Amino acid sequence: MSGDRQRLLAAEGLTKTFGGLRAVIDVSFTVAEGEILGLVGPNGSGKTTVLNLIAGALRTDAGRVRLAGRDITRLPPSTRTRLGIARTFQLVRPLRNLSAADNVLVARLYGRERADFSAARSDSLRLLDLVGLRGKAQMLATRLTLTERKRLEIARALATQPIVLLLDEPLSGLNPTEVDTALSLLRTIRKVGITLVIVEHNVRAVRALCDRVVVLNSGRRVVEGTPGEALSRPEVIEVYLGTRSARAGFDA
Ligand SMILES: Nc1ncnc2c1ncn2[C@@H]1O[C@H](COP(=O)(O)OP(=O)(O)O)[C@@H](O)[C@H]1O
Ligand SMILES: [Mg+2]
Repeated sequence: MSGDRQRLLAAEGLTKTFGGLRAVIDVSFTVAEGEILGLVGPNGSGKTTVLNLIAGALRTDAGRVRLAGRDITRLPPSTRTRLGIARTFQLVRPLRNLSAADNVLVARLYGRERADFSAARSDSLRLLDLVGLRGKAQMLATRLTLTERKRLEIARALATQPIVLLLDEPLSGLNPTEVDTALSLLRTIRKVGITLVIVEHNVRAVRALCDRVVVLNSGRRVVEGTPGEALSRPEVIEVYLGTRSARAGFDA
């Protein structure tokens, strides 16, 4: 069991090719229970593809995905959701014609543990409260601001009662104040026992939040370590050179 806690989630030699393009090449890493793992790297380095392979939206060409030791490589996304893997998308996609509350309710009704309608409804409102959207419960999802839609997306993912939450650029497009609010929300989520894998470009935020990072470049894992050590490596700084916003974070 303690082995399973150290390796709650394991990517083992994941490989994905699109046509002739090798998007992910033999990528391996593990995530311990309660950890926040950052998956970083330049645009096109394969981060979203790795999340898709873990969530089951894409089938890996080679390698395995394990959750608490169980091989889930061949399971469809819906089964992985029921086993406790949830994810958010880089481009948020709420159900447009539903209110914020109903967006969360739908996710709660189809998630890991079934609930009766009134319990699901109160769970949904509690989650909206957690992400700071209680006051917007009845607002149509399309009328929320970007930062609110990102928080709604997190509430929907939490409604499926995940063990592991995969977040694809949850901070992109947010202003510095909104980033701080989002960081404290992510820390709160970790405190309730959910393990996080977070793809993020904001290097300052990654340093502040993550216990460990895996750096990808051109589909390969180049470095793994604590943010302090991994992000100071010359090969990583080189990967990021030219990205001014990212480089700013390396001065820390
Ligand atoms: N569905 C797809 N079909 C074809 N190519 C894709 C697809 N998804 C991603 N790619 C390509 O795979 C590479 C990695 O993409 P992605 O995982 O989205 O990178 P990142 O999230 O790190 O920016 C890119 O070159 C991208 O164009
Ligand atoms: Mg991406």
